[in-house]
Amino acid sequence: MSYDGISVNVGWTTVNSHTSPQSGTNLDPWYYNYAERTAGLAASEVRALFAVASRPEVVSLAGGMPAVSALPQELVIDSMNRVMREQGPVALQYGSGQGIPKLREQILDVMAMEGIRASADDVVVTTGSQHALELVSKLFLDPGDVVLAEGPSYVTAIVIFRSFQADTHHVLMDEHGMIPESLRENIARLKAAGKKIKLLYTIPSFQNPAGVTLSWERRLEILQIARENDILVLEDNPYGLLHFDAPPPAAMRSVDEEGVIYLGTFSKTLAPGFRVGWALAPHAIREKLILANEAAVLSPSSFSQLVVSEYLDSIDWRAQVDRFRGVYRERKEAMIGALSEYLPGLEWTDPQGGFYVWLTLPPYLDSKQMLPRAVKELVAYTPGTAFFADGGGRNNIRLSFCYPTPEAIKVGVRRLQSVINGELDLLETFSATGPLETVRDRGYSAPPPNLD
Ligand SMILES: Cc1ncc(COP(=O)(O)O)c(C=O)c1O
Repeated sequence: MSYDGISVNVGWTTVNSHTSPQSGTNLDPWYYNYAERTAGLAASEVRALFAVASRPEVVSLAGGMPAVSALPQELVIDSMNRVMREQGPVALQYGSGQGIPKLREQILDVMAMEGIRASADDVVVTTGSQHALELVSKLFLDPGDVVLAEGPSYVTAIVIFRSFQADTHHVLMDEHGMIPESLRENIARLKAAGKKIKLLYTIPSFQNPAGVTLSWERRLEILQIARENDILVLEDNPYGLLHFDAPPPAAMRSVDEEGVIYLGTFSKTLAPGFRVGWALAPHAIREKLILANEAAVLSPSSFSQLVVSEYLDSIDWRAQVDRFRGVYRERKEAMIGALSEYLPGLEWTDPQGGFYVWLTLPPYLDSKQMLPRAVKELVAYTPGTAFFADGGGRNNIRLSFCYPTPEAIKVGVRRLQSVINGELDLLETFSATGPLETVRDRGYSAPPPNLD
């Protein structure tokens, strides 16, 4: 499937948050006292949507909430009880800033499933991988530095980079992930402009939001390019174990110990409520990461770490990951089936794992503008612009299939068809020429009279 929808949306402008006006309003008495770096902290589309999408009548294809109902709740409760009975005083106490040694050993077993061999000494447990992203950014990013990331990329990573007043520049992707040639061009252009490129942030497997996976050949080539240019790779891998059929290629960290910081999490393979993730860092970086972790939280939650550790010890967690895969595979198939049925003229990615499908609308539709109509028609999605630092993604949508049931997904996509058709009707009414011709050329069918 062509992936032009992403490629054409990538531009080169940057968000210079440190020169932007302050966010907030004059109703806030502290308006003029905020640090400059807070100018980048605008509420994201995703955040606003969570409020709307939580209404039960709305089918939310917006958030990335894991299907925790597929967990064996009783076994999780047993793990919690055992922790409190047998290790209560430790669970309730502060712990080490690096994380509990036993859990760090268990994390090695998890990472081994993606080809990584490492020492538990180099693992730092964090409050979700989100916090690891924040800590790495704190260690490396100064105002004006550049982070290279896929276009589109994970919305909250972009927010963090911006909060450190760094500029995110997007590298083109296609259905095999980040395009090495585009990476080379970016590096050359940015270096020529005197920019300091500090990080290459990538989600190589079942990417958020595009759902695509970086091929093994490209993983090697991208690592080589990063090495040649002294750029540290930040490999974020929350979804790698959630493949539907064949596993993705081995993690990039499996072949590069010194040039990659790897981020993992239990949020998708167990539950996000525990807030347990980790960073596997090159030995030289690890110490600073621990210090930054201590400065931020003293120690990650002892209770959560012990429960996760107990869970890994006492439950066949690999079988549970298999069950999650089955749930997500079924939901992905429901989404692709519904897209084929209701929106056959459009293009979308067909992920082989993870949570997300990236949908490309006709170029003259604006997914953010269309959102109020969608919410009115009781379906929510995330507009593509959330995933670009530079305004790209206007005619894209991220659809999440992780949380709603297959039936709800079908209803949601059918409602989305109605929303899109409504927008097209408006365009047809108000523009004398063209754009709808293009839609028809692409095989987009007229809406049936009664959609619900
Ligand atoms: C790409 C990516 N990185 C990091 C995170 C944060 O996950 P965690 O719950 O481990 O903080 C997410 C969550 O959705 C994600 O999609």
